[in-house]
Amino acid sequence: MAQRGSGVSIDDLKSQLNIVDVIGRVVPLKRAGSNYKGVCPFHNEKTPSFVVSDQKQIFTCFGCGATGDVIAFTKRYYNLDFVEACEKLARENGIEINFTRSENNKDRDRLCSLNREAARYFYKAFTEKANPGYTYMKKRGMDDAILKKFGIGYADKEWDSLYKYMKTKGAEDKDLVDLGLASRGRDGKLYDKFRNRVIFPIINTSGKVIGFGGRRIDDNDNPKYLNSPENAVFQKKNNLYALNTTKQEIGKEGNAILVEGYMDVISLYQHGVRNVAASLGTALTENQAKLLKRYTSSVNLCYDADSAGINAALRGIDILVPHGLKVKVFHVTDGKDPDEYAKAHGKDAFMKLVKDAPNAVQYKLNAARQGLDVTKDDEKLEYIRKAAAILRKLSPVEMDIYVRSLAEELKVSERAIAAEIEAKDNREEPQVRRVDTSDEDRLNLNPSEANVISAILTNPDLTEKLFDEPGIMESPFAKKIENIIFELYGTMGEFELGDISDRLEPEESLALSENLAGVILAGKEEDVLIESINKWKLDNLKKKEQEIVTRIELADASDLGQETQEALYKELMKIQSEIKKYGGR
Ligand code: CTP
Ligand code: MN
Repeated sequence: MAQRGSGVSIDDLKSQLNIVDVIGRVVPLKRAGSNYKGVCPFHNEKTPSFVVSDQKQIFTCFGCGATGDVIAFTKRYYNLDFVEACEKLARENGIEINFTRSENNKDRDRLCSLNREAARYFYKAFTEKANPGYTYMKKRGMDDAILKKFGIGYADKEWDSLYKYMKTKGAEDKDLVDLGLASRGRDGKLYDKFRNRVIFPIINTSGKVIGFGGRRIDDNDNPKYLNSPENAVFQKKNNLYALNTTKQEIGKEGNAILVEGYMDVISLYQHGVRNVAASLGTALTENQAKLLKRYTSSVNLCYDADSAGINAALRGIDILVPHGLKVKVFHVTDGKDPDEYAKAHGKDAFMKLVKDAPNAVQYKLNAARQGLDVTKDDEKLEYIRKAAAILRKLSPVEMDIYVRSLAEELKVSERAIAAEIEAKDNREEPQVRRVDTSDEDRLNLNPSEANVISAILTNPDLTEKLFDEPGIMESPFAKKIENIIFELYGTMGEFELGDISDRLEPEESLALSENLAGVILAGKEEDVLIESINKWKLDNLKKKEQEIVTRIELADASDLGQETQEALYKELMKIQSEIKKYGGR
């Protein structure tokens, strides 16, 4: 937040503005008695219930309840923060206000301006003459209007054309490196980072260019997408791609469609599905959930249909639902991703998928049922246990609905399912799905391993806890993953499933996703982690206890000295008290 310096105060600013004029520029208003009336810009309506009062200098919508003063309107209409709204109002009405922006803000403004300059450069390269980037996007069926709307650009093949350009604009080397636009070569010179790529500028909801995604054009270039590094202005976890453009549409439609990729967003948009945004290739975060919450209370997750996508959806549900968001989940049924689907089948077919999508609970139940043959008693029981773990977290009414349909479907009594939900001993039932490959054993994680890895992926800060208990990773596969986690944590501090997958063999990465798919964290990753570690310790202690009991029996039988026996009993007691400590008895 900026501090206020000398100059016009907020009250003065307001007193120099008339809310009727300000709103009237963007919302057609008609006089109605002493007030003005119009169609509310904040919700979908046909008959006007949006009232602006000249006398009171406020607006109120009798349809959706939105209300406030001229600053509140500007904040909400343009999705700005308080300071930004004041600045906009002052600027557009020729009023001078003196906000002294803090040093941090100045830094960020400078970096964003540099990004904007770079975005302009890429855009010119894309639009002003023939270039491989434009050719590529045309080949992918994109219209000029859409390319323009999203400010798509091209980074050419040269080693330093952007760098030279930015220097003419007075950019400092350090800023260019921080922004990930340049990097230092072995010779100490700076080189362009994005070369021969289609550029997707990433713009936050206040309209600042915070970063870029660059897609390779030549299949031999790696990686497929190169993204700006995390820096003072770009934090993946706080932003969603395209939300700046689509937030109004999301508000109007009353729901957001979240997809994985840049191309999915712009392709859907071109086909008329405009309430869409992308999670920048990462697992959803708490902050992204909060961001969405500002525009809608309903989210449709549409990730790729591969196991990584299913896993991401399951985790996405656990992030979104606790924020009070209604969630539906679906995968495109034909084609790899929403982009391909929209191209092949168009808007209506896609919207039908949205409409028919299962809600979060149904989706989880379906996922839990995957690979189980419920005509077999033991697999049916396994499904009921997993379902119970999912339903246990619901409100009583919701639970009742699903218990009923589940009972019907599985031909068991509602009472039996309710009892399963009540049951204590499967409260922390491991939710690990089996991996059906010939590598089954080598690539199978045990429940503690899967829980711990899943918890850490959701919250990398928990890696510290694994440092304390490295022994919990027992299988060679888990150990391999543990080493990767430690390496990533040591070098980057944070990471996601993709970073681990990148360092695994393809079948290992698939197996990892499948192992994690069944883990249910319900937003309680730290609890799950601690409980898993405790359970693992307890199991170990019990094993040790058994060993000592056996040795005592042996010692007894082989008539060993009193001392040996006493030592063994002492050890036994120590272990038993530890077992007690971990709640084992
Ligand atoms: N992604 C990334 N880095 C990569 C691969 C992917 O950041 N090396 C992110 C990008 O945001 C990408 C998204 O993950 O859009 C989904 O990746 P993927 O499904 O592989 O690509 P698509 O979106 O299908 O891209 P395209 O259609 O261009 O192949
Ligand atoms: Mn794609």
